[in-house]
Amino acid sequence: MFQHLLLPLVILAISPIPGAFEDSVLSPAQEELEDLDCGHPEPSDRIVGGSDARPRSWPWQVSLHHGGGHICGGSLIAPSWVLSAAHCFVNNRTLEPAAEWSVLLGVHSQDGTLDGVQVRAVAAILVPDNYSSAELGADLALLRLASPASLGPAVRPVCLPRASHRFAYGTACWATGWGDVQEKDPLPLPWVLQEVELRLLGEAACQCLYSRPGPFNLTFQLLPGMLCAGYPEGRRDTCQGDSGGPLVCEEGGRWFQAGITSFGFGCGRRNRPGVFTAVAPYEAWIREQVMGSESEPVFPSQSPELQSGPWELKDENCTITLPECGKAPQPGAWPWEAQVMVPGSKPCHGALVSESWVLVPASCFLDPRSTDRPPRDLDNWRVLLPSRPRPEQVARLVPHKNASWDDTSDLVLLQLRAPVNLSLGPRPVCLPHPEHYFLPGSRCRLARWGSGGPASGPTALLEAELLSGWWCHCLYGRQGALVPPPGHPPHKLCPAYREEEEENESSWSLLCQEEGTWFLAGIRDFSSGCLRPRAFHPLQTHGPWIGHVTQGAYLEDQLAWDWGSEGEETETQICPPRTEHGACGLRPEPAPMGLLWPWMAEVHVAGDRVCTGILVAPGWVLAATHCVLRPGSTTVPYIEVYLGRAGASPLPQGQQVSRLVISIRLPRHLGLRPPLALLELSSQIEPSPSALSICLHPGGIPLGASCWVLGWKDPQDRVPVAAAVSILTSRLCHCLYQGILTPGTLCVLYAEGQEDRCEVASAPLLLCQTEGGSWVFVGIAVQGSRELFATTGPEEAWLSHTVGEAHFLPPSGSPYWLPEGSNLCPLDMAGASGSSSAVLFLLLLTPLIQG
Ligand code: ARG
Repeated sequence: MFQHLLLPLVILAISPIPGAFEDSVLSPAQEELEDLDCGHPEPSDRIVGGSDARPRSWPWQVSLHHGGGHICGGSLIAPSWVLSAAHCFVNNRTLEPAAEWSVLLGVHSQDGTLDGVQVRAVAAILVPDNYSSAELGADLALLRLASPASLGPAVRPVCLPRASHRFAYGTACWATGWGDVQEKDPLPLPWVLQEVELRLLGEAACQCLYSRPGPFNLTFQLLPGMLCAGYPEGRRDTCQGDSGGPLVCEEGGRWFQAGITSFGFGCGRRNRPGVFTAVAPYEAWIREQVMGSESEPVFPSQSPELQSGPWELKDENCTITLPECGKAPQPGAWPWEAQVMVPGSKPCHGALVSESWVLVPASCFLDPRSTDRPPRDLDNWRVLLPSRPRPEQVARLVPHKNASWDDTSDLVLLQLRAPVNLSLGPRPVCLPHPEHYFLPGSRCRLARWGSGGPASGPTALLEAELLSGWWCHCLYGRQGALVPPPGHPPHKLCPAYREEEEENESSWSLLCQEEGTWFLAGIRDFSSGCLRPRAFHPLQTHGPWIGHVTQGAYLEDQLAWDWGSEGEETETQICPPRTEHGACGLRPEPAPMGLLWPWMAEVHVAGDRVCTGILVAPGWVLAATHCVLRPGSTTVPYIEVYLGRAGASPLPQGQQVSRLVISIRLPRHLGLRPPLALLELSSQIEPSPSALSICLHPGGIPLGASCWVLGWKDPQDRVPVAAAVSILTSRLCHCLYQGILTPGTLCVLYAEGQEDRCEVASAPLLLCQTEGGSWVFVGIAVQGSRELFATTGPEEAWLSHTVGEAHFLPPSGSPYWLPEGSNLCPLDMAGASGSSSAVLFLLLLTPLIQG
């Protein structure tokens, strides 16, 4: 497979192969050898999309065994010589010992006694010096048998083309082998040799298909000495295990080997025909290797009338084929929507995945408490499909093997009694391959899935946008967990949508669109509690199972790869620390619909002023006391809190949340007006990308954090601005503000030019991002100041007691406000308080906590 191109290409340095030239004896004239017959199967009469071959129809096909099993194919080209692919024998840049291999000739089925099969040891394996990896060409090998094969009706050599031989573009040729019948789907017992008809593709046509980026922008350069065969629409191909086997074309009653199965991108995929090593260009190399041995291959000359082409149509237009699945006339009018009617139960919604198969949740039919036995009375089951006059009958039910205990595998496939005509009305939905990467920001929809409510209404149109994998994974995942990078199946998919419209009790599938084509991306995960965004189980891990059962479902490659700033998405990401109450302080990447500061709240006080606030738990917002309570007033004002508004692009109104404040709590301090106030919300706010609690840190600033003051440039417009700051050491702060500091206050120094980014009336927030990536709330500006911040430090006990679910991270670093000797202040400092030049001067003397 081509899959390993995802890894950096390693150039294999092939050491000179022992034995390569040991038979260098002059060869007899080639023409004499033509009396050794080649390319004639005894007249008597899969691979992907192929079928069982008849015995003896491909008598040159051999099976190469290593470690007791079939590894690769090969072709007999002379009684003592087998042609195969180099990559079958070169592992980690070294050629595997010939003695470990055996060649089986005359095999039809690999199961059972292998009656009449000849087994030969391998005396030598010869690989071109310039071979390094299949994708870089020269992927061929010659195997010299320890003793010659005895030729007969089941064992005969194929003809080899001369270097001048031309195989016309469009010729129907045949590939054979015991390889996988689909990606990761081995040939089933009794392992009968498969054959498939493949068309030779012109070089330009093949290069055109491979120049179109696939997943991960992968393209591939076809090199001289390679040839392609297959179909732009895929579905018929060679696959793993077929390598080394022949691609043969018939000419004038003889079969010539045009190619050696080498590699591909997946198997049978659209626009990804199989790539073969072209045999003709290696005539000289082959002759050189076999020269002088007791038997040599035959290179019959091509009859002149066959040399007329067509070869390459230079101006051949570059036609990419588009999927035949996933086309909907308009969102919501899903032509794959299937309703399964079972007497005595609610209709169950699923999706048509091929002309004969419907995918539905297993929970519609399987009782999890009963034994795993699937229902058998399928006679009365009916499937309703769009624009079909009559319901379909059901022939078979195939549950996923984990369906009854693992809700990520809550799937069954139903086979229809008769295939439906896909050109009229119903159409299948496209399914993703395991490495599909639905880009953050993808436009998706929710579609009915399982036994939900009534089948009508606008809910079929629920619009959704996919959130970044990092966000989804870390909201639900473990601390320190590795976020699956693009190309690895995600654990969950998180679409953001307006849940107000969601019907109770209904389950949903997630359809995501790429280039106008809809993929079934996921099914709703009900185990995720009340966290938002709701999580979906990705369907992509089930692609191979669905492909295996249906033998024809539309697994399609990703159609969109444009993920903006290059490379960013491929960095390894790790989930930041979380607390016992779940994730906190996650800040989404700036995405189209992303909110930059999901914990920043707008606190509207009595309709006359707006303060910043910060969500510290689903039901609590922290704000500056001076901002929410006017001096002298004794009554609690009418306060409203808004979340989901502070961002590069504020969320649409429906995704903003607001709550009334039902009480204001102040820590009990005798004689002092405490700087921080907790606002209790009328009801909890479910964690979501637009409203997520901030982390708190016991003892102040986490070690190695970088800090920002976050506020508004202007209390009217409320566009959030962040200013980078350094935090002064507590000694420096104390000395600068001698006498006026209350415990737990800290000082910041703004990075140059950042001083007056935020106005102070709304009491900006001080936040730091830890090395682990979580954002931590540190303090709120004290009244009228830009530099002084009242921290949560002294109020930790009060905070965790009042809030209950405050997200205190485990302690790290040293507490900021531990009392330090005040007698250490330089003499002239008291008067310099607040003067930034004095601060700068002092900076030179005193190390800072890094900002
Ligand atoms: N490299 C594979 C093997 O070792 C053959 C893959 C052929 N793939 C294809 N899509 N044509 O068996």
